[in-house]
Amino acid sequence: MKAKLTGIGSYVPETILDNKYFEEIIETSDEWIKRRTGIAERRKVADDQTTSNISAQAALNLAEENNIDLKEVDFVIVATSSYDHVIPNVASQVCYELGLKNVGAIDVTAACAGFGYGIQVAQGLVMAGNYKKILVIGAETLTRFTDYTDRTTCILFGDGAGASIVEAAEESNILASVSGTDSHLASNLYLANICNNLNGQDIDPNGYIHQDGKKVFKWAVDTVSTQFKKLVEKAGLEVSDIDWFVPHSANMRIVEAVCRNVGFPVEQTLACLENFGNTSAASVPLALHNGVRNGKVRKGDKLLLIGFGGGLTFAGSVVEW
Ligand code: UT7
Repeated sequence: MKAKLTGIGSYVPETILDNKYFEEIIETSDEWIKRRTGIAERRKVADDQTTSNISAQAALNLAEENNIDLKEVDFVIVATSSYDHVIPNVASQVCYELGLKNVGAIDVTAACAGFGYGIQVAQGLVMAGNYKKILVIGAETLTRFTDYTDRTTCILFGDGAGASIVEAAEESNILASVSGTDSHLASNLYLANICNNLNGQDIDPNGYIHQDGKKVFKWAVDTVSTQFKKLVEKAGLEVSDIDWFVPHSANMRIVEAVCRNVGFPVEQTLACLENFGNTSAASVPLALHNGVRNGKVRKGDKLLLIGFGGGLTFAGSVVEW
């Protein structure tokens, strides 16, 4: 049995936090944020909206736009680091909201690489022959885990959800995949609320995202550049065969540096930084959905998707759309 990625959808909450909002609450400027990150605005969930809510909404939008019957879904994977509860997981709450019964439901927690891992897990489950139609969602409500007094992180993060289907098919369109972890760098990016120790170092378990931006930036540029080339090679392609690069939207300067390193035109990149900021596990499906919706991505295009972040970990695939 082979597995195919089919269909993409998304949902973002209505409330917009623009850069002016941050000029009011911290020492920053619209000019600095745009120049150093590429972000103009990001979305924030309403007080009564959860990660499960926005995940389910993204799935409903996916179903409507792609004419998919969600009742055929037999497994749900939600990639997220912004859980609503420790128990139950987000995926089982998505089943509740969508009225799915007797369906497998797991969360994949791999920070901004979560969606990439979710696709690979779904592919494996389908190829094992046990499931036929898997809903893979990347969703975050990171504004709940953001310290709005820390100017080095609070300007970055936003909320949103993207949803896709991985299903049984005669031919696969997932041409190659990679993943890996540099766990010795873990303390450069963490969100902790239980233990105060990570890799033998003291950390602050205050429930907010902590990041050493410079260190993660350097790791991201080196790692994504290397993995971009590896993915292309594994897929039996040349860099010039890739139609669209869909990286995790963390910082536009990371994307530009990777494109320079691998010799890929930055104009052929789908990122969603400007309007949505860093939405972690949601950013790859959000950017892909935007690209499909506005007609950039066409049937047969070769896409290189890659997520990277906390762990520090990465996961990506080459997909023929
Ligand atoms: O999504 C998971 C993976 N995450 C990433 O890939 C994130 C990678 N890192 C980054 O995107 C960038 O490092 C940041 C956007 C987080 C920070 O940008 P940077 O250019 O690396 O800034 P920096 O940390 O080197 O700080 C440069 C200066 C500092 O001032 P001094 O020490 O030079 O006087 C900061 O205090 O910019 C200052 N600064 C700010 N100024 C205005 C830091 N944050 C702000 C801010 N507004 N919000």
